[in-house]
Amino acid sequence: MSKQSRFSRIVILTGAGISADSGLHTFRDPDGLWAKHDINDVATPGAYARDPERVLGFYNERRRNLAGVEPNPAHHALARLEKECRGDILIVTQNVDDLHEKAGSRQLLHMHGELRKARCSHTEDVFVWPDDLNPTTQCPDCGRTGVMRPHIVWFGEMPLEMDRIESALEDCDLFLSIGTSGNVYPAAGFVSSVRMTGKAHTVELNLEPSEGHSLFAEQIYGRAAQVVPDYVEALLSKS
Ligand code: APR
Repeated sequence: MSKQSRFSRIVILTGAGISADSGLHTFRDPDGLWAKHDINDVATPGAYARDPERVLGFYNERRRNLAGVEPNPAHHALARLEKECRGDILIVTQNVDDLHEKAGSRQLLHMHGELRKARCSHTEDVFVWPDDLNPTTQCPDCGRTGVMRPHIVWFGEMPLEMDRIESALEDCDLFLSIGTSGNVYPAAGFVSSVRMTGKAHTVELNLEPSEGHSLFAEQIYGRAAQVVPDYVEALLSKS
């Protein structure tokens, strides 16, 4: 049964923190991915040009780690919000895992790409790709080897679907930021863009204050698996 909450155009930015309760590492926590790997060795176009085997291996390991990882109550709460709220919901995730999809969210875009997809650097074609990639992997379209890369946005590259994101931020009346440290732009700047419209309520839901915490009208701290379902329940019950 759909319910009319007081908000009708909701944009939700998610980061690695929403997947932490599913067992996936974040990036900047003490045990995060960037504590074990240097970004310049595994997550830039230069790294890929210098040592494709190392970069492909990094993403092969992360892709394999997705097997058996399930959405947590935070992902399910956002899928429930999309299902039960009569308004428009868009999840803009920085995450490259598939946990929002597994939880049932459909109004979703991956601004930093997706682990389970690969792209041909020659044709730019994108393929669903559950398996490993290596330098001899052939492009299914052009047949070339040495051209297949993870469909991941590396540092220094332009995030995906920015036009769609910017127009959603312009229109929204509720902006939620969940599980992100606010370290990486342009995502870290979304709250400022929303504030400039003067039309939206802004809420940060995170384990601890992010870099941009003071820019949010409301802050809720705790594990996403706990605070997100509570927030969604309150949103829907106020309808
Ligand atoms: N519940 C809620 N928040 C959590 C939890 C949890 N269980 N565990 C950690 N967090 C918070 C941390 O406090 C931190 O603020 O999630 C945030 C994770 O921050 P990062 O590790 O920096 O991840 P993210 O913000 O998603 O990084 C953005 O940087 O490296 C790039 O492309 C990568 O998409 C990534 C981008």
